[in-house]
Amino acid sequence: MKKDLIVTVDGPAGSGKSTVSKILAKRLSYLYLDTGALYRAVAYLIDREGTSGNDEQVIHDLLKSTDISLQKSGEGLQVYVNGEDVTGHLRTEEIGLMASKISALPLIREILLPIQRKAGAKGGIVAEGRDMGTIVFPNAEVKFFLDASESERIQRRFMELSSRGVRIPYGNIARDMGQRDHQDREREVAPLRPHEEAVIIDTSGMTIAEVVEAMLEIINISLASNSLDLL
Ligand code: DC
Repeated sequence: MKKDLIVTVDGPAGSGKSTVSKILAKRLSYLYLDTGALYRAVAYLIDREGTSGNDEQVIHDLLKSTDISLQKSGEGLQVYVNGEDVTGHLRTEEIGLMASKISALPLIREILLPIQRKAGAKGGIVAEGRDMGTIVFPNAEVKFFLDASESERIQRRFMELSSRGVRIPYGNIARDMGQRDHQDREREVAPLRPHEEAVIIDTSGMTIAEVVEAMLEIINISLASNSLDLL
């Protein structure tokens, strides 16, 4: 049995999952796997090639000739497309929306699945996304689903973008988030939803530190029982 756990963190945009997953990974000395970056990398590639996100056959041909991989860098992973590190291009609102749209295509999910599973094969990972607990790591020892009220999630995204110097009207953020939520929850393949074993945390009104402590408490219980199993 492996010593280090797989911890999954799923939830909608603005639920705080990226921020807390990064902190959790650091506190546990685990690897942080940001699976949204993989979907964003595909969206970036499609956008750069001038391909429409609607043309499945063209996307299919494009991806067949593309190598997507993850490489360790510090506590996280960088995304490479045909040997080029594209990680720095992925955190825009346009790429986020496009990633949400193309992530509904079964072919794209099929291509990205083994890359994610390989990253978590040895355990010792905090894997963050939309289908970590339900599809990618259904045997993960600890599964979380973070949520927050829509108004708080919009506010958080607004603050995050402002802190990066990105000025986007509040109304546009609300509209884009609504569209992304709808696409991610309603798609047929791997829709956003909590695994039945997931611990659901409503982070509305909670500080980041409070969320992290609540999660660590649950992880520590699992770590203790996992090390008993190893004896
Ligand atoms: O977490 P994020 O904002 O970087 O993700 C961008 C989009 O990628 C998200 O709206 C839906 C898709 N995604 C997915 O379908 N499955 C994942 N495991 C992660 C992201």
